[in-house]
Amino acid sequence: MTAPAGSLLAAEGLRKTYGPTVALDGAEFSIHAGEVVALMGPSGSGKSTLLHCLAGIVTPDAGSIVYAGREMSGMTDAERSALRRSEFGFVFQFGQLVPELTCVENVALPLRLSGTPRKEAEKTGRDWMARLEVDELAKKRPGEVSGGQGQRVAVARALVTGPRVVFADEPTGALDSLNGERVMELLTDAARSTNAAVVLVTHEARVAAYSDREIVVRDGKSRDMERAV
Ligand SMILES: Nc1ncnc2c1ncn2[C@@H]1O[C@H](COP(=O)(O)OP(=O)(O)OP(=O)(O)O)[C@@H](O)[C@H]1O
Ligand SMILES: [Mg+2]
Repeated sequence: MTAPAGSLLAAEGLRKTYGPTVALDGAEFSIHAGEVVALMGPSGSGKSTLLHCLAGIVTPDAGSIVYAGREMSGMTDAERSALRRSEFGFVFQFGQLVPELTCVENVALPLRLSGTPRKEAEKTGRDWMARLEVDELAKKRPGEVSGGQGQRVAVARALVTGPRVVFADEPTGALDSLNGERVMELLTDAARSTNAAVVLVTHEARVAAYSDREIVVRDGKSRDMERAV
């Protein structure tokens, strides 16, 4: 496919089945640098499957995904995992922090995994924690912080490598509305300031309101919604 002009990540004709279940049925997508796009839609409609395909975690049965001008299906597994490590960041519903590590060690982990020395990785990690207003939690373990604090630590971890795309699947799904909105504000501010694109899956209109554009996913098909202003 030819990706739409200016898009960083684009897909068309995505199809994915799990046995008899059709999870994606011709879904399409596009996002440009610095843009926040919300994927909305009912449970089971294919939002997470679409996000996983775009992130190179799940291989679609058919269709095309182009990232930074390159067809993803033409990449090797090693190239796709290098992308996930260095150019993509991830935030999930339950932060999925490593319980044995302190918060700053968690945030620094993606840098450590790509070979950054500990001191430098933790310094950058602390800077990101400060931006997310959780630097006072650096030495605590994930079990010792609140849900909202843990999600802010998870957002810091997603941003620490300076990713070009952040994938967030229901990042506020386990938080109350006040904490959820704060996490969204910090996530979108941080992403915009670094010109990262954010692919955000959410059920909640209040959360989707932080996006620039909404795409509704229904029965494995996606449809761009004009934002009513
Ligand atoms: N690994 C899997 N194995 C089998 N079926 C799957 C798998 N992943 C997803 N599905 C099925 O594909 C369909 C789409 O699932 P998906 O997780 O993408 O939905 P979703 O929109 O993210 O839903 P939710 O809002 O509940 O998270 C569902 O019918 C689901 O049961
Ligand atoms: Mg889901």
